[in-house]
Amino acid sequence: MIAVATASQKGGVGKTTLSVNLAYSLARRGWRTLLVDTDPQSGIGLSLAKSSRSKEGLFDFLAGGVPLDRLILHSRLPELMILPAGQYDACARRGVSHDDAPERLADLLRSAELRGADCVLMDTAAGLMGLTETVVKACDYVIIPQQAEPLAVRSIPHMLETLARFRAEGAAVKVAGILLTMVMSDQEMSLSVARELRQMLPSDMMFPQSVPRLPSFLEASALGVPVALLKRNPPPEALIFEQIAAELEQRIGLTRERENGPSHASLLD
Ligand SMILES: Nc1ncnc2c1ncn2[C@@H]1O[C@H](COP(=O)(O)OP(=O)(O)O)[C@@H](O)[C@H]1O
Ligand SMILES: [Mg+2]
Repeated sequence: MIAVATASQKGGVGKTTLSVNLAYSLARRGWRTLLVDTDPQSGIGLSLAKSSRSKEGLFDFLAGGVPLDRLILHSRLPELMILPAGQYDACARRGVSHDDAPERLADLLRSAELRGADCVLMDTAAGLMGLTETVVKACDYVIIPQQAEPLAVRSIPHMLETLARFRAEGAAVKVAGILLTMVMSDQEMSLSVARELRQMLPSDMMFPQSVPRLPSFLEASALGVPVALLKRNPPPEALIFEQIAAELEQRIGLTRERENGPSHASLLD
């Protein structure tokens, strides 16, 4: 099983959009995927899940005492399960600290693996501090969505330095790649940032694909669904995430080696 975080210094760069659409595409491609919302503000799962019967989620798990089976939600796809963020103040309510979050996250990943997950995708809150730092350090890979704007050229080296520090501190997390988001193909500035970044960084650091800025992403994220589920027939841009998922599989070595093993219909079976 492989754990992947989406992370960035800034908010509003498309992390949650990436997490939801990528998790959906990975699941569509047959990978048993657990999408975990570690951002108390993002609200993943409320629409994507078949039922949002519970207000509880990751933060309740971190606070202890709530079994994972009660927290993981089914989605419309059998391969896609969701662990919503839950109640941010669960630790405070139970009078426990976040200090053992690293052990609890390791527990979560072990449990997901035991339940047959191929991939755990963790959406994070902006910034590489606090719980996001813990989440990124617990993952095997991180994907960095980056808005195609001039500041990107300055912020990426800083992000890479922080990740290098995490590794120096003992984390095994590797960069799966930087993905340009909200690219405006009719705006020279957006295209020149994309070009500059591709020149500045090692050639394999950036995903060859990029996510265009389109109203459908805004609409889909307002509803909390992947763009593929926005209409009866998926719009063409849904294909981009199929391609990003295929590229990610290569980059992180998500292979079909398990295919001959016992099949699991869902993570909860
Ligand atoms: N490719 C895109 N095209 C248009 N709007 C987008 C795109 N990606 C994200 N957005 C919108 O930008 C806002 C921030 O995106 P979001 O994924 O929530 O970012 P983050 O999780 O990094 O804060 C949301 O309103 C979202 O709908
Ligand atoms: Mg978000």
